[in-house]
Amino acid sequence: MEKILITGGAGFIGSHVVRLFVNKYPNYQIFNLDSLTYAGNLANLTDIEKASNYTFVKGDITDANFLTQLFTEHNFKGVIHLAAESHVDRSILNPLEFVMTNVIGTVNLLNAAKTAWKNDLENPLFYHVSTDEVYGSLHNPEDFFLETTPYDPQSPYSASKASSDHFVRAYHNTYKLRVVISNCSNNYGPNQFPEKLIPLFIHNIQKNKPLPVYGKGENVRDWLYVIDHARAIDMVFHGGKNGETYNIGGFNEWKNLDLVQLLCKIMDKKLGRTEGESEKLITYVTDRAGHDLRYAIDASKIMNELGWKPSLQFEEGLEKTIDWYLNNTAWLDNVTSGDYQKYYETQYAQR
Ligand code: NAD
Ligand code: DAU
Repeated sequence: MEKILITGGAGFIGSHVVRLFVNKYPNYQIFNLDSLTYAGNLANLTDIEKASNYTFVKGDITDANFLTQLFTEHNFKGVIHLAAESHVDRSILNPLEFVMTNVIGTVNLLNAAKTAWKNDLENPLFYHVSTDEVYGSLHNPEDFFLETTPYDPQSPYSASKASSDHFVRAYHNTYKLRVVISNCSNNYGPNQFPEKLIPLFIHNIQKNKPLPVYGKGENVRDWLYVIDHARAIDMVFHGGKNGETYNIGGFNEWKNLDLVQLLCKIMDKKLGRTEGESEKLITYVTDRAGHDLRYAIDASKIMNELGWKPSLQFEEGLEKTIDWYLNNTAWLDNVTSGDYQKYYETQYAQR
């Protein structure tokens, strides 16, 4: 069995990638390495946690010695690196935490891989899952982010992800490590931590709490259903060319206010409210510092070269997402109460 290391697999996107790989590839032993920060939730993976080709490892990528040991013990044939601090607002409050995990953690992983794979640099693959935020903000409505767009990160989060992308490319150029990078737009879907726009607003609408729209709600994001991102990651991992970058996005731009209004409309229907009731919760608040105006991905390369395309229209994906949150109130209650953080101690630690 080939051993594949997925980092950050207890988080939002990582858990969907782990599930896809565990179910689709019985010939892979999937190792999910996660330190279980506030964003890591093992309850995201209860359906596959007992699969024979799945192993959870609690560990921190900022710990270089731990990684060296892990790579010595297991002959990994590939790494899919998702572990990161991922929330822009938190990066504004605490940039150093983002440097530690996103930059130092990534370099630690690169070092562990480089050392372990030194006699076999042709084969194992180091795949870095990154973000479109490294390209900065688009101001001309005609423009899209291409793989060749110069990096211009504007937030501490995007600066840390840009830095980690540069290190991955540097290890490819300098040490000939086999690498691929993908840069994806905003994801939404089940299991997203309710600090991000869509799950936060679903939660607040349910609880009749204010919906804090930053600035005038004019910023534009390009939304992709998380399972379509996981499918793209599978294709890039298996078909991506050494040293290449692939942009991933759904050609699905929404102004924040339009998205929030659509969300309110669907929620009114689902909750049996009269149309317009949830919209009254919209509250305009001080804008995010350095708020990027618009992101929009040109995903032609991955579509043309690897045959990927999104499977869901946005309205359909949004409805599925809302249904998931409404049907999984225990998941949301555990996250908001903090109980989810006890899952490892009660279900794993004594094994
Ligand atoms: P998330 O915050 O939901 O999950 C991150 C996971 O990483 C958590 O399980 C956390 O416990 C783990 N982690 C954090 N620090 C760690 C450390 N030091 N050691 C080990 N594990 C650690 O993030 P997400 O939204 O699922 O994003 C996953 C990746 O995809 C990130 O690299 C992010 O930059 C990238 N990305 C996210 C989006 C998006 O819209 N969410 C879009 C494009 C790219
Ligand atoms: O583009 C990819 C990126 O998308 C990922 O790399 C990040 O990890 C991910 O967090 C996401 O970043 P954003 O900052 O775009 O996502 P967020 O959900 O925080 O915000 C989406 C938009 O909504 C953004 O313009 C800010 C706005 N917003 C957000 C929150 C949380 C609000 O107006 N109010 C809010 O309360």
